[in-house]
Amino acid sequence: MTTSAQLLSFLLRRVTAVTAVAAAIVLASLGPVFAQHLNAPADPAWSVPEIGALPDTPQNRLIRHGRDLITATYAHIGPDVADEAKRYAGNNLACTNCHLNAGTKKFGIPLWGLWDEFPQYSKRSGTDISIEDRINSCMSRSMNGKPLPVDSPEMQAFAAYIKFLSTDVQPGEKLSGLGAGKMPELKRAADPVRGRAIYARACAKCHMPDGQGLLRNRRVPSMGYLAPPLWGPDSFNDGAGMGRLTNAANFIHFNMPNGTSYDEPRLSQRDAWDVAAYVISRPRPKMADLNKDFPDLLLKPIDTPYGPYADGFSQRQHQFGPFGPIKAAIARLKAKKLESEKKN
Ligand code: HEC
Ligand code: HEC
Repeated sequence: MTTSAQLLSFLLRRVTAVTAVAAAIVLASLGPVFAQHLNAPADPAWSVPEIGALPDTPQNRLIRHGRDLITATYAHIGPDVADEAKRYAGNNLACTNCHLNAGTKKFGIPLWGLWDEFPQYSKRSGTDISIEDRINSCMSRSMNGKPLPVDSPEMQAFAAYIKFLSTDVQPGEKLSGLGAGKMPELKRAADPVRGRAIYARACAKCHMPDGQGLLRNRRVPSMGYLAPPLWGPDSFNDGAGMGRLTNAANFIHFNMPNGTSYDEPRLSQRDAWDVAAYVISRPRPKMADLNKDFPDLLLKPIDTPYGPYADGFSQRQHQFGPFGPIKAAIARLKAKKLESEKKN
């Protein structure tokens, strides 16, 4: 039995609920703005201006082209594009496969806020490098290809986009969320055998059981991957940063399965270290002259999977850990060097 008063109160409740939902939606969409107003540290991803709203000027067209090169590298400079002169990359990956969300995802190796960090000293080359040099380092390692000429339209577009991503970032400002994150190291060596079972359970459905990924169209590789390969001929080569255990394990922990956010990781740290060990233990293209990397061996990252090394530890321990003893040995060698420099 429904009285009109009951009906009215029911309707009112409905209206209130709908209004509340609408208000919640408005609040959610205003979330980032609120965070800034409350003096919470603004997430720089939010302060990146909306690229779609840029007026159509020659400079902004260059920025958009740079974004497209990041998200669909394979379609512009991949090994299977029609114009042979443009085949700079040696695989059909996209920069965004590792620099997630076109270089804007926290701990997805973002490319934001980098502009003022270059030129910078590179331990790998032992010289100061420009942002173009750094891009070319990913071209020859992660993309297993060759460097882009600095004055090529593609390099100019990459640089314009990376500069755009630094809009409103103050010189010297240290952004949170750079790199791939940093979880504690294991005391033991990472275990590729255990990692293999984790791969089968948590990764194979996208990256495929053979690690070769899933092309959008098997007959047209220049359309890129739905899920990129993690090893094999079309993957990053053995000189790439992703081939180092620490980078791979953190990237995987904070970003995989794809869609994972750094604040809600789905793999345990232990599983991430072990599955990363499995992935980096698989065969991949070889880069020439890796023994020339890191001319000062005391500055060589301890998890570099290729020698020479300043210490007496095996290649295998450098690749999989445990890293504690290596770090201690390097610290001793550095102290010794300092000592002998003082004497001279
Ligand atoms: C397979 C994964 C992968 C791909 C693909 C890749 N990169 Fe990278 N990139 C990395 C990793 C890992 C690092 C950090 C390496 C390190 O410092 O140890 C990095 C670093 C960089 C940096 C320096 C970032 C910083 O914080 O200083 C730039 C710039 C860059 N990449 C540009 C590119 C561009 C442009 C492309 C596409 C042409 C590309 N990368 C493709 C993995 C990748
Ligand atoms: C739901 C599908 C999915 C699952 C599950 C998944 N990935 Fe990925 N992974 C992707 C996609 C898609 C990308 C590229 C992201 C992009 O382009 O935005 C990627 C990128 C990567 C990359 C960097 C790109 C490269 O070529 O090296 C690594 C490393 C990686 N995944 C490892 C893993 C590991 C290890 C697991 C299991 C723990 C895993 N992924 C689970 C879909 C997935």
